[in-house]
Amino acid sequence: MAGALIHIENLVKKFGPFTALNGVSLDVYPGEVHALLGDNGAGKSTLIKTLSGVHQPTSGQIYVEGKPVHFRSPRDASAAGIGTVYQDLALNQLMSVTRNFFMGREMTTGPRPFGVMQMREMDRIAHDEMVKIGIDISDVSQAVGTMSGGQRQTLAIARAIYFGAKVLILDEPTSALGQKQQMEVLKTIKRVRARGDIAIIFITHNEIHSKLVADRFTFLSLGEVIGSGTKADLEGEDIRRLMAGGAEMADLEQELATI
Ligand SMILES: Nc1ncnc2c1ncn2[C@@H]1O[C@H](COP(=O)(O)OP(=O)(O)OP(=O)(O)O)[C@@H](O)[C@H]1O
Ligand SMILES: [Mg+2]
Repeated sequence: MAGALIHIENLVKKFGPFTALNGVSLDVYPGEVHALLGDNGAGKSTLIKTLSGVHQPTSGQIYVEGKPVHFRSPRDASAAGIGTVYQDLALNQLMSVTRNFFMGREMTTGPRPFGVMQMREMDRIAHDEMVKIGIDISDVSQAVGTMSGGQRQTLAIARAIYFGAKVLILDEPTSALGQKQQMEVLKTIKRVRARGDIAIIFITHNEIHSKLVADRFTFLSLGEVIGSGTKADLEGEDIRRLMAGGAEMADLEQELATI
């Protein structure tokens, strides 16, 4: 736990009689990518929704920088530095890159609500913050709808960091993209990692992507941690078996052989 930005201890989340998380513990460190892996229904989204204040835990405890936290809403989690980039990215396709970057947090001069928006300054910040993590949008007044999927991910990530995220949670950021754009997003993740001060939780179904960028791995199956470790701890074979919920290749073959 020492040095962990996030420490999750024995987290349980029940939906009525159903147990979605059954005693999950994990640590996330600054400057590291922590891959969260597991099959459909394993509890990955439930875990990050609990971490980002959407759900309240049934029991267990979350610590941020060593202090116990109790998030009652996503706003609470955000204020504590938990930045979550959901799959839909919460972007408005018709609005400009800059307006999306600031969305609701615009810089104005003069008293609200009559203040004048500082468009030039906002354009500069949006542009520069995205350059830092790898994309150079020449015209930030263009609509987000004209950007590629990878660029949109980068915008959502740059925005979360600029507004104070210490922990960046990425829920399947590469799943809806083509090969080239997937690589763009992985590069963005690497650049954020290289800053050294941000902890990244990377949810993916893609074994190769996790191996390309992650330092640490946690495998969930039916709400429980079935394996975890650093890259060095885990052999390639292990990762594959754990991705399949702990099933051995031979078991899977046998399952298919009965048909
Ligand atoms: N709000 C809810 N109410 C009841 N059950 C839920 C709720 N949210 C999730 N579950 C159940 O909890 C289990 C874990 O779901 P979760 O969405 O966390 O899985 P996941 O690992 O994110 O899967 P996927 O890879 O498909 O996104 C599933 O069985 C799901 O049906
Ligand atoms: Mg999910």
